[in-house]
Amino acid sequence: MTVLITGGAGYIGSITTRLIRSTGRAVVVLDTLENGHKAAVGDAPFVQGDIADSQLVEQVCKEHGVDEVVHFAAYKAVGESMENPSKYFQNNVTGSQKLFEALQKCGVNRVVFSSTAAVYGTPTRVPVRESDTLNCESVYAETKLMIEKTLGWYSKVSSMKSVVLRYFNAAGATEDSTLGEDWRHSQNLIPHVMKATLGHAPTLKVFGDDFPTPDGTGVRDYIHVEDLARAHIAALDYLKASGESITCNVGTGFGTSVMQIIEATERVTGKKVPFEIVGRRAGDPAECYADASLIHHTFGWSPEKSLEDIIASAYAWHSSHPLGHDS
Ligand code: UD1
Repeated sequence: MTVLITGGAGYIGSITTRLIRSTGRAVVVLDTLENGHKAAVGDAPFVQGDIADSQLVEQVCKEHGVDEVVHFAAYKAVGESMENPSKYFQNNVTGSQKLFEALQKCGVNRVVFSSTAAVYGTPTRVPVRESDTLNCESVYAETKLMIEKTLGWYSKVSSMKSVVLRYFNAAGATEDSTLGEDWRHSQNLIPHVMKATLGHAPTLKVFGDDFPTPDGTGVRDYIHVEDLARAHIAALDYLKASGESITCNVGTGFGTSVMQIIEATERVTGKKVPFEIVGRRAGDPAECYADASLIHHTFGWSPEKSLEDIIASAYAWHSSHPLGHDS
């Protein structure tokens, strides 16, 4: 009984891998290490390779007795996906297709897939529900939606069942500061806030203060990465108990603005966050936060960590790991 974790050397993947192992499940991590780090995998069984390498996936499944999968492996840079769509369709969509084909050959029928709130684009309302209109505004988001749909069809026509988790804004690091995000490869807000706070960037650039939100800055749903990791275990347990395929938001249900993040960071760290207001970033919606009632009612999952926990853990991690896992 082993969980295959694709992309398990990445930020969310490595933290989820560690948590899954702590619950007594055996794992095997498959990662190309193009963006992931071997150090983040620790002593978990590891295979370097690509999800599109069907032969390798089949071999790993057989050798490790894989019976469930958590599928993280994907490219995730929104801007890059608009400049190089083929790279994203190829790796994310075709790669996933090849992975699912190999899983089917090996009789592996339970898949937890990491999708994104970006499939909603600019939500028609907030909090946004799973059944609301999907409106991908980037190639990246479209690739995730295409994989969601592929899994939906497999679920209809085969015995493969899946849980699609639509992540809101994953942030923070492990409580012991040993796993976290590499700010050198992230475009996301919290790593940039930490860079400015710790003096590794002159200022934080706030992308717009003229949104129709209470303080004019963008509002998002920041979810602690360890809470997010726990949602994967709940999803695996649900599928194991013969649950039907389902798509769930994974967020806190609360919106926080960029200004509120800055204020909370100053409160938690006791340091000033130097910032400047610049123009809006293309494609940024004003507000996006989850209706998280479905995951709560289906899996009994709720977030346990606060915004302060996110900021304190990110601060501790980035202070000690300015070069990520290369530090
Ligand atoms: C972004 C991606 C989304 C992806 C998610 C997680 C875009 C348009 N969306 O979401 O597809 O799933 O990351 O990887 O890129 N902000 C600043 N200054 C910064 C960085 C961000 O003001 O230096 C603001 C943004 O305008 C936004 C908020 O902070 O209001 C959060 O931004 P970010 O962390 O990049 O997440 P999303 O845009 O929600």
